[in-house]
Amino acid sequence: MPISEQLRALEKIAGRSLCTVSDLSGEEVDAVFHAARLIASGTVPLADELRGRVVLTAFFEPSTRTRLSFESAAARLGAGVISIADVSSTAIGKGESISDFGRMLDSYADVIVVRHAQAGVIDEIRAHGLGKPLMNAGNGWGEHPTQALCDWLVLEDWMRREDAARPAAMRLGIIGIPRRMRSIRSFLLLGCARFRDLIRDMTFVSSEPDCLDRELAAALAEAGIPIAFERDLDRVVGEFDAVYINSLALRDGHYVAENAEYRLDGGTPLKREAVILHPLARGAELSSDLDNTRHNLYFKQAEWAVPVRQALLLAVCGQIDALAEAYSASSRR
Ligand code: CP
Repeated sequence: MPISEQLRALEKIAGRSLCTVSDLSGEEVDAVFHAARLIASGTVPLADELRGRVVLTAFFEPSTRTRLSFESAAARLGAGVISIADVSSTAIGKGESISDFGRMLDSYADVIVVRHAQAGVIDEIRAHGLGKPLMNAGNGWGEHPTQALCDWLVLEDWMRREDAARPAAMRLGIIGIPRRMRSIRSFLLLGCARFRDLIRDMTFVSSEPDCLDRELAAALAEAGIPIAFERDLDRVVGEFDAVYINSLALRDGHYVAENAEYRLDGGTPLKREAVILHPLARGAELSSDLDNTRHNLYFKQAEWAVPVRQALLLAVCGQIDALAEAYSASSRR
């Protein structure tokens, strides 16, 4: 059966890992979004496309959204799920090395999802020739690529919605310390690589003047995105069309609240149409009195976590026929 051109790129993802946002081409990102939107629309009757597969989620760090949404995505596709939510329950708790742990994974699962506080762990696991697709669910300050997919999907939907008040390209405010915040790092790297056309400029609001690392600075320069740095949030917040905020940062191996002097709440002089993104979990930097306002895009980021991860699991397992068939059927209607 011929499949749509937009979904065809998913075939190229079969068997591959997603460790950084650069592991997907722009065409592949578009295909994942297309598949996720089809799944979320409910027009695709998915049930057991991954029956007989096993998805392993190994979380060496706390998580609500990422682990549960990967597991929900797997369960909704009929896969079995085995899970490490508490590292002390594994032999690592009695001293086993990460590399020995990594060597076992190929035998136990078809897709491996890992979160760890050390940025180098993903490379360490891969170094031993892991044959199964590995999903980076957050590695220290490094990256959180599947989160960035959720972020840009909802932001792209918001930007492309018919609305006279919506700008063609947004002024984006980043409140945080990107070089120590993996969700913001992946968001920026994916934005530079794939969504340049949606960005007019970026302002980094940070207590640290040196809030970017070399990779981020190079990506922004290569994309030709005008950037500015600002310490006074009130002076610039009214200019932003979209604001990405976080305060959880990795310092000396521990997560701490940083940039804590910055806070968005109902009294912040945001532009009327502006939207706020946050990967959650939030701290004091994002007040719940914004939850029931038009500014709230952060709950949508979390809502899209399941269909985006369903699309990714189908793609890495090479199981996109059901999507393609449903797409063809809906196109014929
Ligand atoms: N966005 C995110 O990574 O949330 P969790 O830490 O709850 O997984």
